[in-house]
Amino acid sequence: MPAVTSASDPGSAARLVVLVSGSGSNLQALLDACADPAYGAQVVAVGADREGIVGLDRAVAAGVPTFVHKVKAYDERADWDRALTSSVAEYKPDLVVSAGFLKLVGDDFLEAFGDRYINTHNALLPAFPGIHGPRDALEYGVKVAGATLFFVDGGVDTGPIIAQVVVPVLDDDSEEDLTERIKEVERHQLVEWVGRLVRDGWTITGRKVRLK
Ligand code: GRF
Repeated sequence: MPAVTSASDPGSAARLVVLVSGSGSNLQALLDACADPAYGAQVVAVGADREGIVGLDRAVAAGVPTFVHKVKAYDERADWDRALTSSVAEYKPDLVVSAGFLKLVGDDFLEAFGDRYINTHNALLPAFPGIHGPRDALEYGVKVAGATLFFVDGGVDTGPIIAQVVVPVLDDDSEEDLTERIKEVERHQLVEWVGRLVRDGWTITGRKVRLK
């Protein structure tokens, strides 16, 4: 399979569309990073699958346009996927970032953005995919946990890995303790690697992601 290569125009800030479902602390980290022109990116829109979340409030506070598509508002899941794809496409993103977005996208979305759609997951993939990464890691009794940044493919947390970061699991950790310890390093990883991707460009060859 040929390598896929993408980068924003040299000299202009890359366009990020960020998708959220919750508190949006990862979104906030990106918004803060984008305030420095040297970072090389700007958040041009924030999308969500629900209203009334702090993530959307953060976007509004930063003056970033938002859109919401609830799955339940559509007869078919594919209709929701097409609507989401079309809203994201309006903003002509160089990179689409799922930052705590709790929905799996469908074929239309992946066809449009599959080489430029990344997700941050709060576990060390391929262990503990799905929405309870820290809980599953604790129950398994692992001694290290962490976060994985990856390009999204058609599976659940199965796409090519961009970066991973590790934290210790302590004997008396609650799910909340571990979740927060992971989120702290996850935010730094996201900001660092989104910056690298948009400034340098990247290639994906099979499962190997490399900066150009
Ligand atoms: C992140 O830890 C992400 O890995 C998980 O949900 C969390 C999102 O947090 N899927 P926030 O909304 O960015 O604060």
